[in-house]
Amino acid sequence: MTSRVALALDVYGTLVDPIGIRQHLKQLLLDEATRVAALWRQTQLEYTFRLTAMGQYLDFAWVTRRALEFALAATGQSLDETGRAALMAAYDDLECFADVHAGLRQLQTAGCGLAVFSNGTPPMLDAVLDRSGLRPYFGMVISVDEVRTYKPSPRVYRHAARRLGLPPDAVYLVSSNPFDVVGAQAAGLRAAWINRSRAVFDTLAPPPDVVVTALTELPGRLAETTHNPIDEVSSPQRRREGRRERREKREPK
Ligand code: LAC
Repeated sequence: MTSRVALALDVYGTLVDPIGIRQHLKQLLLDEATRVAALWRQTQLEYTFRLTAMGQYLDFAWVTRRALEFALAATGQSLDETGRAALMAAYDDLECFADVHAGLRQLQTAGCGLAVFSNGTPPMLDAVLDRSGLRPYFGMVISVDEVRTYKPSPRVYRHAARRLGLPPDAVYLVSSNPFDVVGAQAAGLRAAWINRSRAVFDTLAPPPDVVVTALTELPGRLAETTHNPIDEVSSPQRRREGRRERREKREPK
């Protein structure tokens, strides 16, 4: 990536919808699909926080499977191994939020350097990016597995900046998860919060300067900020456009 500012986009909850798995759950369980989906996600995140506090690491596929076991047991659902394996496979096939393709296309056209940055393991991210068709937008895929700890440890955010070859304050973490936004800012990154559900932000820290309700609003909002990544990027596409604009100014028709 050649941009002097890059965007590092979170995956689960930001690009793809983990709660959307309730459609699969509805086919396998008699009831409680929505409750199981929400508890599965909540437990998955809680386990990552707890492992991080314990100074231990077990990867996101392991955590996701254990969180499913808990969500099923806590809601009194019985599901055989074939069903459980089908749900884990469905996790690799989560649907994108409706605004994601259009938003990424606009950011790409604006010349932003885009990276995926997630708790997911590299095989999970490969699967979800390929099946959702999102991979072509991204120049880099960064998994916390590379440093074997989870968000919001400052180590993972600094690692993302290092992978991008940029200082932390030249990286925008783009996430729908407030804990991720707060963690990134605490580690010295900039952040944008995608608040699709018009939720209340964490009270642990103030919201970031950039808050939008859809990814498609992000290019316009970033262009308004004082630290404008749209202007600062120097992607090959942007450099070509700049050369063309300068040529056209010199040779008015
Ligand atoms: C991720 C988690 C936060 O994708 O959902 O990193």
